[in-house]
Amino acid sequence: MTSLTKILSGLAAEAFAAEGLDPAHGHVTTSDRPDLAQFQCNGALAAAKAAKANPRAIAEKVLARLKADPRFARLEIAGPGFINMSLTDAALAGHVALLRDDPRCGVPLTGAPKTIVIDYGGPNIAKTMHVGHLRSLIIGDALKRLFRFFGDRVIGDVHFGDWGLQMGQLITELKREKPDLAYFDAALTGPYPATSPVTMDDLEVLYPRASAACKADPERLEEARKATAELQAGRPGYRALWQHFRNVSFEGVRREFSALGVEFDWWKGESDVDHIVAPMVADLKSRGLAEESEGALVVRIAEPTDKKELPPLIVQKSDGAALYETTDLATIVDRVRTVDPDLMLYVVGQPQHDHFEKVFRGARKTGLAGKSELEHVGFGTVNGPDGKPFKTRAGGVVKLHDLIEQARQEALARLNEAGLATEYPEAERQEIARKVGLAAIKFADLSNQRLTNYIFDLARFIRFEGETGPYLQYAAVRIKSLLRKADATPLLLDDSRGGGPSRSDGGGVIAAPANPGNGDHRAAMVEGATLSDPERALILALDRLPHTIDQAIAKRAPNILCAFAFELAQAFSRFYAAHHILSEPDATRRTHWLSLCRLTLRELETLLDLLGIEVPERM
Ligand code: ARG
Repeated sequence: MTSLTKILSGLAAEAFAAEGLDPAHGHVTTSDRPDLAQFQCNGALAAAKAAKANPRAIAEKVLARLKADPRFARLEIAGPGFINMSLTDAALAGHVALLRDDPRCGVPLTGAPKTIVIDYGGPNIAKTMHVGHLRSLIIGDALKRLFRFFGDRVIGDVHFGDWGLQMGQLITELKREKPDLAYFDAALTGPYPATSPVTMDDLEVLYPRASAACKADPERLEEARKATAELQAGRPGYRALWQHFRNVSFEGVRREFSALGVEFDWWKGESDVDHIVAPMVADLKSRGLAEESEGALVVRIAEPTDKKELPPLIVQKSDGAALYETTDLATIVDRVRTVDPDLMLYVVGQPQHDHFEKVFRGARKTGLAGKSELEHVGFGTVNGPDGKPFKTRAGGVVKLHDLIEQARQEALARLNEAGLATEYPEAERQEIARKVGLAAIKFADLSNQRLTNYIFDLARFIRFEGETGPYLQYAAVRIKSLLRKADATPLLLDDSRGGGPSRSDGGGVIAAPANPGNGDHRAAMVEGATLSDPERALILALDRLPHTIDQAIAKRAPNILCAFAFELAQAFSRFYAAHHILSEPDATRRTHWLSLCRLTLRELETLLDLLGIEVPERM
């Protein structure tokens, strides 16, 4: 199963080759001018350049060869040598018949599956998750789904921030408050109490206080640094206390992730690679890759071509503590050892770009990355209506949890306003509101180009019209409802009932392709098919899913999926407005239309699933 552009590219490639030209010039795309043609091939221009010939003359020769194929309704040369192509309705209908039977809607699985680690989420112990983490979670989750759909082996790693200075800050802050706790007695080595001395709420108060104190007072900072180094060196009381911090935070984070519908394969943290750091540093030293600089050990990563100066990568601070970049390097070592990935993607805000540039260079230069490619998938910030980073009215951090709850309530209000789901049982209504709220947040985030900042505007995200998650959910739900009605209409039969004496697709418009897939790029034909304009446009849109997936993968860009889902929903909406599907008396035509509905639903559901958006059964 493949898309029409691929089939046509195959045909055009053959034609170019037959003219003694590079078949690569046969690349066919969707037309930029849908009013003039369905597809276009611009290869004659490049071919002419290479062959020092006239592009129009080449286009004419290629076109003459293509003309032999009965599937073309129109072939024309435009401008200096663009070839415009349109297919017959019989060919389009035949293609739908093939798509209809393909559970992947024409999207091939990758022939060369990769092992990919996606590092996203990245919550920190004790720090409340905010909208910045939200973006990483949503984008990372979408990319994970996308690569999996493509057939890659994908591992999502949360990369918990549990090992840096904030640990020492927390420890010293708690020590001030409760100096008598057993954890602070240096003479003790355990055992320590099994229950945590702090809750998540306590931590959320402790951390900002500690952080502010360290900013204001260098002595406090020094104290926190020392505690961090001691923790990392293995001081038993600190380790025991830290374990409590970690457990309590993990639990809070897990709750929020499940509310968001995001799951991880690895719940690893910075601390998990602690045992790798010392041998890694020793190895780098022995290979002459790390050198001393002001008491610290560094890897020099600057290159002569650098436009701005990149400081060296610090693998060990002068006090022996590991830095963020150290644990990131050790994490690469850990991943290479455990799964030897082909690719690691880091879905982290753009402000950390330089950090990753340093770590990646260090990893490549030292050979620690193995065969893995390393890539920072950055994103812009979420701003408030004032254009500044999103805050609560009181100026605080907007918590993920509150955001999700707010969206759910707003969704409920909108559903009521629109008169949707009003008569359903309360539990179902709440469940629909939950799905709609999440869809609003996720789609709004994903539909922006990754690197642009956007303004968080829940009221706009949650509308049922326009390019929103709820609109697309509603579009899918409407098709579901239409299909249910069609199933419930006993007199008019459709192709969902598979077999039976009254099955109506015998000589149907698209029922049985006349020449099903004989050869690599043969498309099926359904003789005598006639399509309306909106129908043709819908079929052409449906055919674009494989290309859309390719593009989204290549650019790590879920927004491409969003834009396409919206276009598809609009194409469907025009088709739906033009045809009275349920009351259509011609059974063959009705069957064909219902097939298009099913296909559209399948593609929409596939796309929404890739975006992490659930579709309610009804609304
Ligand atoms: N915990 C970090 C933060 O909140 C994000 C971690 C990103 N991943 C990584 N491998 N550094 O900024």
